[in-house]
Amino acid sequence: MTDLHTLQTTLLSAINTANDLTALDAVRVEALGKKGSVTALFNTLGSLPAEDRKAQGAVFNTLKEAITTALNTRKETLEAAALTAQLAAEAVDVSLPPLPLPKGTLHPITRVMEEVTAIFARQGFTVEVGPDIEDDFHNFTALNIPPEHPARQMHDTFYLEATSENGASQLLRTHTSPVQIRTLKEKQPPLRMLAMGRTFRCDSDMTHTPMFHQIEGLVIEEGVHFGHLKGTIENFLAEFFEIDDLKVRFRPSFFPFTEPSAEVDIGCKKSKESLQIGIGDDWLEILGCGMVHPNVLKAAGVDPATHQGFAFGMGVERLAMLKYGIPDLRAFFASDLRWLRHYGF
Ligand code: DAH
Repeated sequence: MTDLHTLQTTLLSAINTANDLTALDAVRVEALGKKGSVTALFNTLGSLPAEDRKAQGAVFNTLKEAITTALNTRKETLEAAALTAQLAAEAVDVSLPPLPLPKGTLHPITRVMEEVTAIFARQGFTVEVGPDIEDDFHNFTALNIPPEHPARQMHDTFYLEATSENGASQLLRTHTSPVQIRTLKEKQPPLRMLAMGRTFRCDSDMTHTPMFHQIEGLVIEEGVHFGHLKGTIENFLAEFFEIDDLKVRFRPSFFPFTEPSAEVDIGCKKSKESLQIGIGDDWLEILGCGMVHPNVLKAAGVDPATHQGFAFGMGVERLAMLKYGIPDLRAFFASDLRWLRHYGF
C-alpha cells in the first residue's frame, strides 16, 4: 500500500510539474503506456489468488483514475496556456501605421471622368448609366439614325450574334448617346445629365482602339437655347484645362441627333515636337455638340413642342492625352505598370 501511495504521489507531482504538453505526454506513457508503471500493476493481478483479484483490481483502478484525471486537468491547463501564448504572439496592433505597401494609382481615364463629373456636378448635372451591350433602337434608331442611314457605317459597329428577348439585334454601344434616350424615357425634364463609360468600334490603329471611353452630356429644360450650350461648353473647357482665357471655336457640323450641330475646337500651338493648349493660332477639335433633334425627343417620349435642349459628346482618352501630355493612345490599355505609375494619380 505504501508503494502505491508513493507511486501515486510521485506521478501526480510529475504531472503537475510537467511544463509543456510533450513533457506531460511523457509522464502519461511512463504511467499508463504499455510498459508504464500503473499498467505493470494490472499485469500482477493474474498471479493473485482469485478471491483477492477483485479488491486489488479496484484499488489499482482508483489509482489509475486519479492519474487519468490529473493528466486531463493538467492537459487543459497547458493547452489554455499555449493558446494564450499563441494569441499574444500573433496579436496585431491595429493602431499601428500601415506597412509601406506598394501604392496603386488612379488610371488617367478614371481621373478625367472624375474631373469632368466634378465640374458639371457644380451645375446640377447628375451621372446616369446605360449598358455596354445595347440594342439597335437605343444606339441608332432613337438617335435619328434609321436603318440604312449612312452614319451607321461610320460607326464600325460590333454586332452580337444573339438578339435580345424581343428579337432586336444587339451590339456593343458605339457611343454614349443611347444613355440620353434611356434616361429621358425614365426621368421627366427638366434634366441635366452626364453619362460616361466604355464605347466600342471595330477599329484599331495608332489613333484608334476597339474599346475607348466617351462622356455625354444632355440638358433638357424649357427655354434652353444655343447660347446656353455655348456658355456651358466654354465654361467647361476653361475649367477642365485650367486656362481662364482659353480660346474656343464653334464650327458648323453634322450629327443626326442634333440640329443645328457643331464641332468645338480649342486654341493651341502645334509644332513638330509639341502641342501647347491655350496659346498660339492653331485649332484642335475637342468635342461634338448641338441642339437635340426633335426626332430624338419624340423617340424618348418627350414633346418637342414644349421641350428642347442641347447635347454634347467627347472622347475621354483625347481629353486625358491633351491635359496630361500622354503621347500614345494604345498605352492606355496595355496595363504596363511603369506607364501606370508614371501617368497614374
Ligand atoms: N455620339 C457622337 C459620337 O460618338 C458624339 C456626340 C456628338 C454626342 C454630338 C453628342 C452630340 O451628344 O451632341 O461621335
